[in-house]
Amino acid sequence: MHAAFATAAKTIYDHALMHGLDAIAAAALDRFAAAGRRRSLTPVERLPGGRVRRHGRELVDFSSNDYLGLSHHPALIERARAWAAEFGTGAGASRLVSGHLAAYQAVEARIARAKGTEAALVLVSGWQANASLLPALLDRDLWQAEPLVFADRLIHASLHAGLTLAGVRARRYRHDDLDHLEALLAATADQAGPRVIVSETIFSMDGDVTDVARLAAIAARWNAVLYLDEAHATGVMGETGFGLTPGHGIDLAMGTFSKGMGSFGAYVGGSAVLCDYLVNRSSGLIYATALPPPVLGAIDAAVELVPTLGAERARLAAHAARLRAGFAAAGLDTGPSASQIVPVILGDERRTLAVAAALEQNGVLAVAIRPPTVPPGTSRIRFALSAAHTEADIDFLLELVPRAVEETR
Ligand SMILES: Cc1ncc(COP(=O)(O)O)c(C=O)c1O
Repeated sequence: MHAAFATAAKTIYDHALMHGLDAIAAAALDRFAAAGRRRSLTPVERLPGGRVRRHGRELVDFSSNDYLGLSHHPALIERARAWAAEFGTGAGASRLVSGHLAAYQAVEARIARAKGTEAALVLVSGWQANASLLPALLDRDLWQAEPLVFADRLIHASLHAGLTLAGVRARRYRHDDLDHLEALLAATADQAGPRVIVSETIFSMDGDVTDVARLAAIAARWNAVLYLDEAHATGVMGETGFGLTPGHGIDLAMGTFSKGMGSFGAYVGGSAVLCDYLVNRSSGLIYATALPPPVLGAIDAAVELVPTLGAERARLAAHAARLRAGFAAAGLDTGPSASQIVPVILGDERRTLAVAAALEQNGVLAVAIRPPTVPPGTSRIRFALSAAHTEADIDFLLELVPRAVEETR
């Protein structure tokens, strides 16, 4: 251990011994607050129609990822209720033990068909999927070699967790800069070991869309495995709503049921043998209790429903296009957004908090997103749109946001 670090650690440890764990936790919280980065939980009541109640007031909700409003859809609610009544509220054990409800087979077959993959697996959550699929995929025992990993600089925290648990240090390419990715692949061409590329198809904080066809072509050219996260594309993008990977022969495409699909849980699509391998090696599937039956019921209903929601997807895309155009006309920076996620990038953290507070004052929930969730100097208000929003909701934002931003200048 570095001497200065060892001394600091000893001091904190001595302090903890003297004053207790709560005292050092409180000191850490004070440091977060001094840096303007203390976070806290605020209770909400989720309402239909893209609304929430917070602090006793009804607000138009632009912070939830319920992109199609499915969390209140009668078909999902009804199936969740029916499966709870029939199978109970808990799965009782992991899928490899006794939690593998017979319904998984049909749900996974339907997901695989929609994703254009041979097979698919349902997992407990998106975070857990990334944190446990990547270590299985990057296992040295699998390859009998050290994998070289290439990852977009802005990948989600759960993908970082997966890479960390896999014990690899990824080579990070500049966000959405596939020329840079190719340059990194070329620079390591003489090194042994398999290549694995990790990215997302819609980036959660910028709302930009990856060129999946080009990424797949690069992966093929360099004989690299491609792992893509479709958390924000699932339900929303693609002809049948199953994201941007179908038709591109992606090795592993994961996504979530927690956002556009209106409930909770995750999936991964891939070849049958790879999915079988993951059942044997993914700790998040092996060592976690399977999803509760009512959640699996909501997933089942959403998977059935989503291909029929083309009109809702078109409406969502139209909301986003109108909002971006209006914000741009008002001189606001929406970054590279090209999806239902529209950030207004303000830069300064305190100013972003002030704008979010002004919006809430005026009946809009759109929370401030700050470092470390986004890079320093790029704090933003992230507007997550929903097909459940009305034209009037978008008009309201177009009137309110430029004014709130102007008032904090
Ligand atoms: C890109 C991305 N991947 C994975 C996750 C995690 O998904 P879940 O919320 O279902 O755990 C999220 C959500 O926060 C995400 O934005």
